[in-house]
Amino acid sequence: MSNGREAPTPILPRKRGREQSKPQTKTLPCLRGREGPTAQPWEGGGFAAIGPMLENTAAALAAAGFEDPRRHARRLLAAALGLSATEVFAHPERALSAREQAQVASMLQRMAASEPLSRISGQREFWGLDFLLSADTLDPRPESETVVEAVLARLPERSAAYRFLDLGTGSGCLLLALLSEFPSASGIGVDIVPGAAIMARRNAELLGMADRAGFIAEDWAAAVAARFDVVVANPPYIATAAIAGLLPEVRDHDPHRALDGGADGLAAYRTIAADLSRLLRPGGLFAAEIGSGQAEAVTAILRQNALAIDGIAPDLAGIRRVVVARR
Ligand SMILES: C[S@@+](CC[C@H](N)C(=O)[O-])C[C@H]1O[C@@H](n2cnc3c(N)ncnc32)[C@H](O)[C@@H]1O
Repeated sequence: MSNGREAPTPILPRKRGREQSKPQTKTLPCLRGREGPTAQPWEGGGFAAIGPMLENTAAALAAAGFEDPRRHARRLLAAALGLSATEVFAHPERALSAREQAQVASMLQRMAASEPLSRISGQREFWGLDFLLSADTLDPRPESETVVEAVLARLPERSAAYRFLDLGTGSGCLLLALLSEFPSASGIGVDIVPGAAIMARRNAELLGMADRAGFIAEDWAAAVAARFDVVVANPPYIATAAIAGLLPEVRDHDPHRALDGGADGLAAYRTIAADLSRLLRPGGLFAAEIGSGQAEAVTAILRQNALAIDGIAPDLAGIRRVVVARR
């Protein structure tokens, strides 16, 4: 993933982009207690409305090294106040209660300490859908939408009753994004972490797709006996030794089970590939997210397991991100 879940290149802390941040544990100037040169912004009343609070939050994030601090500040205030970013922008005069001010302060402190806003708020948008997150689920990344796009490009019949299998479902984002595009389709999401399967089921309920999506806590496809039109997977693909060098917001906040791909990062692909002939109907599709630089190795694993490579799709950064194969 281009925002830090990446291998094999060592990932060092860098200037923040989308929720990227350097380690920052010091108290921000604007969050210091009354002994500081200025009172906390939310103490004096001068920041007790959205507009001034937005300005001050953006200044604090800029001081903490965030790129595009105003955008981050708008998103932070929106999450803290339960508003849309547009509402935050449109109502600078809206007064903030003491509780809301404290909530903004607490979230700002956590963001400045490298915690992604999606982790703090417990939710993330993926494919235009809102997903709840927990400590058991990966924070879905925009580049994983390439998996959904790759499948859509190969299945033109939107009303077909396709059967999807999502291995390593996490929040359920891949399966539920696909089901949102195919209203007659159904599918199963599998995750070895029970808490992830529970969260994925909750997301299916909240998105109104629980009648078409089942979730089980199992080891890859070991317990799956059915055949599918499409199998998707975004398995862990970071080499174990590279995890320590990941960005802190990834290493310290995404579950390691979602990251650790074994000694060479490819362990999950080998296990999954060995089951694809029995899981896919003849002509069925497999689409998997891969790490940067893994395309050759993953296509070789799939060919060794009698799959034909159908294509490799780049993400928006031009990185070869998704391998598609056919049985
Ligand atoms: C990179 S995350 C992907 C999550 C989600 N599909 C997404 O794209 O955001 C990989 C997922 O695989 C799950 N996983 C790891 N080992 C597994 C196994 N042996 N069997 C099933 N799931 C596994 C992890 O718990 C994690 O949720």
